[in-house]
Amino acid sequence: MNAFANPIERSFELAAERCEDLTQPVYQRLFRDHPEARAMFRSEGGDLVRGSMLALAVEAILDFAGERSGHFRLIGSEVTSHDAYGTSRALFVDFFRVIRDTLREMLGSAWTGEIDAAWQRLLREIDDLVAVSV
Ligand code: HEM
Repeated sequence: MNAFANPIERSFELAAERCEDLTQPVYQRLFRDHPEARAMFRSEGGDLVRGSMLALAVEAILDFAGERSGHFRLIGSEVTSHDAYGTSRALFVDFFRVIRDTLREMLGSAWTGEIDAAWQRLLREIDDLVAVSV
């Protein structure tokens, strides 16, 4: 583990030590909390789309929590293009909460107060970012 990683990065590293691929647990939770979201994805090839959507969302999160070199801008641009999929802004934003909760459950006692505070702040900042996206 990288001692210099920020708490968000660390939470993903710790999860990767426990689970090779977050796709299953994240979408299981998403569809449990929002059953209506399942039908938004195409039935054929949906697995691929879901996997790459999650990978891009994680990349955006890591950039937003770190360097802010540019990947994070995907959040603002995708929120508007998701109107076409019938994804409300509230649902779009909740995807990040779903990722957080998946990691928290996976980490168990390795989920520290520092990681928790960093995620709370991140979710608030993503809310703000989405609120000003047009
Ligand atoms: C629960 C929230 C979300 C739902 C229900 C959702 C749903 C979808 C659907 C239905 C597609 C189209 C799949 C297809 O082509 O058949 C898609 C594509 C995509 N999603 Fe999401 N999405 C959500 C959140 C996000 C978030 C938070 C991000 C990233 C910040 C994201 C990034 C993308 C990207 C990059 C694509 C590829 C196509 C494109 O550029 O529009 N999605 N999403």
